[in-house]
Amino acid sequence: MSINFNNKTKEFHLSNNNISYIIKILRNGQIGQLYFGKKIKHKESYSYLLESKSRPMAQYLYENDFSFSLDHIKQEFPSYGTTDHRYPAFEIKQENGSTITEFEYISHKIFKGKKKLVGLPAVYVENEDEATTLEIFLKDKMIEIELVLSYTIFEKYDVVARNAQFINKGENSVDITRALSLNLDLPDYDYELLQLSGAWSRERYIKTRKLEMGIQAISSTKGISSNDQNPFIALKRPETTETLGEVIGFSLIYSGNFLAQVEVDTYDVARVSLGINPFGFTWHLENNERFQTPEAIIVYSDSGLNKMSQTFHNIFGKRLVRGEWRDKFRPILINNWEGTYFDFNDEKILNIAKAAHKMGVELFVLDDGWFGTRNDDKQGLGDWVSNKNKLKNGVEGLSHEIDKIGMKFGLWFEPEMVNKNSELFKRHPEWILHVPQRNQSHGRNQFVLDYSRREVIDYIYDMMFKIIKNSKISYIKWDMNRYITECYSVAYPPQRQGEIFHRYILGVYDLYERLIKAFPNILFESCSSGGARFDPGMLYYAPQCWTSDDTDAIERLKIQYGTSLVYPLSTMGAHVSVVPNHQLQRITPLETRAGVAYFGNFGYELDMSKLTEEENKKIKIQIDFYKKYRHIFQYGIFYRLLDPFKNNIVSWMVVTEDRRTAIVGYYKILNDVNCAYRRIKLQGLDPDLKYEISNLNYPEEIATKYCYGDELMNIGLITTDSSSGQVLDGSRVSHDFDSTIYILKVE
Ligand code: DGJ
Repeated sequence: MSINFNNKTKEFHLSNNNISYIIKILRNGQIGQLYFGKKIKHKESYSYLLESKSRPMAQYLYENDFSFSLDHIKQEFPSYGTTDHRYPAFEIKQENGSTITEFEYISHKIFKGKKKLVGLPAVYVENEDEATTLEIFLKDKMIEIELVLSYTIFEKYDVVARNAQFINKGENSVDITRALSLNLDLPDYDYELLQLSGAWSRERYIKTRKLEMGIQAISSTKGISSNDQNPFIALKRPETTETLGEVIGFSLIYSGNFLAQVEVDTYDVARVSLGINPFGFTWHLENNERFQTPEAIIVYSDSGLNKMSQTFHNIFGKRLVRGEWRDKFRPILINNWEGTYFDFNDEKILNIAKAAHKMGVELFVLDDGWFGTRNDDKQGLGDWVSNKNKLKNGVEGLSHEIDKIGMKFGLWFEPEMVNKNSELFKRHPEWILHVPQRNQSHGRNQFVLDYSRREVIDYIYDMMFKIIKNSKISYIKWDMNRYITECYSVAYPPQRQGEIFHRYILGVYDLYERLIKAFPNILFESCSSGGARFDPGMLYYAPQCWTSDDTDAIERLKIQYGTSLVYPLSTMGAHVSVVPNHQLQRITPLETRAGVAYFGNFGYELDMSKLTEEENKKIKIQIDFYKKYRHIFQYGIFYRLLDPFKNNIVSWMVVTEDRRTAIVGYYKILNDVNCAYRRIKLQGLDPDLKYEISNLNYPEEIATKYCYGDELMNIGLITTDSSSGQVLDGSRVSHDFDSTIYILKVE
């Protein structure tokens, strides 16, 4: 990995073993984009790539020089209004009302390692040799604002991390009305735009569309990253598959309103923009203040989507998630939400915990309903003190009881919210985001606390601190169950109201940081009505996230498959629940419910004290199985094999790094009859190793006991079941929602 600067040609070449990123200081002092993609050799100059011809109807920067029009030059951090008519990376409104800026290169720094971002989540290095960083300093001399563009290239991962910072060295204040994290101008638009879109209970469905001239974008305006769109897009070549072809992934490490946009101009250039959503955003920058954008990540793969995802899994799993839980086995948990909802007491909870402990479950999570007067979702949020009517000795006492059983204890909070029916609201009605004298819109009967205010965060911190300190807590589920409306803070002056969405998220990050500092051993799981805030920003604080409120195994195939595009299995909470399923009323076999949930952080979400003997037996086997292989499920290399958005049969697999053990999940949504024989080509095995194959659910249903890796990857694993033919001998007949798990092991 290196960053090379050629002083003569003013070019920077960032490269590692697989990727190259080449940029250049332009004549006007801005930064031009020459190349991003598969690694190319370093040579003296690539300036010939700066094509800058005179074009009809163009505007030019310099008199009588018809070849320097920014509209026709690929750039790194463009501005609007000085010959470039495309959407810019930033915009600064100045005292005189103008938004025109002229940032020029001043200097640069290249150094080993990577700096932290103040107050914001970001990827990091553990030692300086893991990455190299380039900082380019630019300045608009008239308004004396400095702009620092930062690029980090990693040695082991095909990743470039980017961010920008504005520093006001001038005497006058300015308003930043657009401050994206990344702009990348690509020379053609022969790509499909892939995005993860959804809604509550169907989060992160994969959607693709062909790029076209004009603007295509996804965004959030809800105050959180949202379940509608995820802060991620990929540009894949039309022919790119899971295993072959070129794809560039873009991800924003941020949990608030974002914009991910591709503008294709009429000269085929595809301009990718990623950052805080400019809609509803302004930042007032006084003398000597700085504004830091969130970090954007670019991943390159020339070997299809699986490779892109594995790079995201590595960088996010190993260099974004922090703390002791990054590398530790995540506990198998039981959560009482679907088992009891709000209706519980000590006895019920202890019965569930005892039953779960017998099965081998390691962590009990007490969900919503343990505090204040929280008997339903109309009250109690904000009052983080135990409800002694439900729990005689409070959470404090219960946590010790659970500890005595031999289990860890986890607790649910929704720290950003308040119900009107609460002590907190009675005391501080002004602490919610609202516009005085205007209606306050409703969502799940609750209101959003004004996390742009330090005193609000302090108050919530103190309450949480007390209860955590006095209990035996090793896990916290941090929920967030409504979007932001009337985003206004009475604590800020009019010219700073455009900052509140961003300040809110900074406040959330701040509270997380303080709690992590105070309780470094606690495992945090983020949640937002299921997976509405499943984003990289959250992963910096909470190593795992509740993937979706939808616990139906068949729906989960799509949700987990889509989520796996960017996020590692170790970040995805996945639980077995009862049937009929509470979200869909669907009845699926217990084996299939577990078979899907294994591919994530495994757990149960039901009343374990109410199971049949047969269910108990099966669950014991499931838990033993997951414990035996959890290192693979949580930290193995993941491959998607068959896509639930396209097929009735779905499959994926995980492989250990040494490629000696692999587990394949195989799911049939609807049964079929007299159908073709089936085989499925596996991925990531060692072609020369001989694998012993076993079938977890139906041990007798294997075609052969041993296969070499090359056989399994080129011919395929035989997965034919009774639906290919007739069952005449009384053996098992396949059925709807059928599934199995294949285990492949080298002796
Ligand atoms: C939404 C979460 O996604 C659920 O798991 C549960 O914690 C409820 N909130 C509790 O109100």
